[in-house]
Amino acid sequence: MNKMGEIRHFLDLNDIDPDVLKSILKKAHALKAQKYNPPQIFQGLSLAMVFDKRSTRTRMSFEIAMKQLGGHTLVMSMDEMQIAGAESVKDTANVVSRYVDGVMIRMSDDTVLKEFAGHCSIPVINGMTNKTHPCQIMADMLTIEEKLGSIAGRKVAWFGDVNNVSNTFIQAAKIFDFELALSVPLELKPDTLPDHVSYCEDPIEAAKGADVLVTDTWVSMGQEGKAIDKFRHYQVTPALMAKAQDTAIFMHCMPVHKDEEVAQGVLDSTANVIYDEAENRLHAQKAILAWCLEEAGVSVSQSSFNFGNA
Ligand code: CP
Repeated sequence: MNKMGEIRHFLDLNDIDPDVLKSILKKAHALKAQKYNPPQIFQGLSLAMVFDKRSTRTRMSFEIAMKQLGGHTLVMSMDEMQIAGAESVKDTANVVSRYVDGVMIRMSDDTVLKEFAGHCSIPVINGMTNKTHPCQIMADMLTIEEKLGSIAGRKVAWFGDVNNVSNTFIQAAKIFDFELALSVPLELKPDTLPDHVSYCEDPIEAAKGADVLVTDTWVSMGQEGKAIDKFRHYQVTPALMAKAQDTAIFMHCMPVHKDEEVAQGVLDSTANVIYDEAENRLHAQKAILAWCLEEAGVSVSQSSFNFGNA
């Protein structure tokens, strides 16, 4: 059960029962296995997608996820909606709820997203805020399971800046029971670190024995012009990869800024799984949508897609 109430919003990993998240991952594996014969479980259903920032992967993967499973999509830029003028969050949320069966929103302000969801009578999915990126991390968990067999007990090392993706990796460490070593400049070290998460100022120490090395851009959207010199020490290089397990993989949610947060040599190596990771946005989001829409009272035509109490 979603802690926010009966409507199955997908806003924040910490709002959702860990067993539900694990069941969504299982469904994502199953839906990926049906990539070429997708079940038509979203027939007659519509998803609105609203963006206040640019996107390639989130937009394409949600749109194709809905369409491959028989549903429809409507894409809107927030600045072309009346909410960019005088219309309230409450009125917009109520009206959107009357037209579509679910809404995915990329909205900078996490608080406004949650306010919007509070006024919706349909599921709302977080397509990334400045604080969190839960759909990305579900795809990342799917990728780690696919490549390494399991997540529990693994060591994941994060390098570079602190942002919405690292914040969500911190949440995921406890939920999925892996160890997260956070290697970022000392001034960015979080004040408190939950169980499963450690701080490692030295990137070499963080990389030692890691199963997964992960990074992201040093300049998130909206931070253009930011100084990046302090991050150079945290670039993921072949030398850093060499400190990790022989089977270690390199992950990045993309877009990549080569020779900034990651060296070309890592991108050219067999450890690089970023295109599989990007593809897995599609499969993870099919499963997230199936979970959200089922609880909303939608008739899902295939009994095998029953999540039960999970
Ligand atoms: N990783 C990610 O969210 O990509 P987009 O910004 O292209 O959607």
